[in-house]
Amino acid sequence: MAFLDFDSNVFMAPMAGITDAPLRTILASCGAGNLISEMAAVNAIQRKNPKSWQIANVKDEPYPVVVQLVGNSPELFADAAKLVTDLGAHSIDINMGCPVKKIVNNNAGSALMRDLPLAAQIIETTVKATPLKVSVKFRKGWDNEHSNAVEFAKMCEQSGASYITVHGRTRAQGYSGTADWNIIGEVKAAVSIPVIGNGDIDSPQCAEQRLKQYAVDGVMIGRAMLGSPWLLNRTHHYLQTGHILPEPSVSEVRQMLLKHIRLLVDYYGERGGMAISRKHVGWYVKSLYEAKRFREQYTKLNTLTDATDLINDFFSRIEQ
Ligand SMILES: Cc1cc2nc3c(=O)[nH]c(=O)nc-3n(C[C@H](O)[C@H](O)[C@H](O)COP(=O)(O)O)c2cc1C
Repeated sequence: MAFLDFDSNVFMAPMAGITDAPLRTILASCGAGNLISEMAAVNAIQRKNPKSWQIANVKDEPYPVVVQLVGNSPELFADAAKLVTDLGAHSIDINMGCPVKKIVNNNAGSALMRDLPLAAQIIETTVKATPLKVSVKFRKGWDNEHSNAVEFAKMCEQSGASYITVHGRTRAQGYSGTADWNIIGEVKAAVSIPVIGNGDIDSPQCAEQRLKQYAVDGVMIGRAMLGSPWLLNRTHHYLQTGHILPEPSVSEVRQMLLKHIRLLVDYYGERGGMAISRKHVGWYVKSLYEAKRFREQYTKLNTLTDATDLINDFFSRIEQ
């Protein structure tokens, strides 16, 4: 099913330090229907900060990529929107949900949920600056006493957002506790633009239940897809057919993990790629026998050759 010109209404969540080009390549190879970047700061893009530029530059990727921007200045958003349009973005998502202190203290991310006039100005300015669609991702609110997601969603719609994603946690919760899906349902009932619900989805059946009960247009999955890149397509397939695809075999996990590490090393160089691969390796093997001992050994490795040898040795023993 096409949805907002994506191939699926099961979205991957943007995650700083995680949803980079190598992970997107992996997800695309597993049939993911939409792909998104890590957040990139508008001021850093304008300064052509190498790391932010690398995040925003999706020109060479063979599939559409949503680029997420974070910041607090409408003018810088406009400049960054023009730049990422030229850098090949499929569309632009504005981060108004990040709870991290460094971002919030800058009046960006979820801090914008406490400043609706500025948030509106940012969305309007961005929409005017680019022919691309502009979406917004935000939370339930700042804290339980200030759960203004419904009012915020209406503001996004009036300001020209094409669709919105609501994470059902407050800024105060960070990533702990549970996501409040009732407020996501209230948002859906209050606006006419598509609403993507996000928070705690960890299986195809859970996604189906959320879509049915809260009538959202799509779902977004974050932490549950880490080390499990098949989840997005398995969920999409289940929603389309009612049929659950089998879990990947241990041998498929091995092949995917090796491919992922090779992509990381190609993209970041051997030293950088190996360092970043450690967290991914931990996610891929977390449910496997003796994963802890394997992770401890993996952490000490610095070369792709050593990583490949250790992984092949570990998986050969499990596969027997
Ligand atoms: C490590 C980490 C980094 C994240 N970075 C971003 C980000 O850059 N932009 C964003 O909008 N959300 C970010 N998020 C939030 C996720 O997109 C998502 O809203 C959240 O994890 C809830 O979904 P889940 O319960 O399916 O994981 C991040 C979450 C985590 C755990």
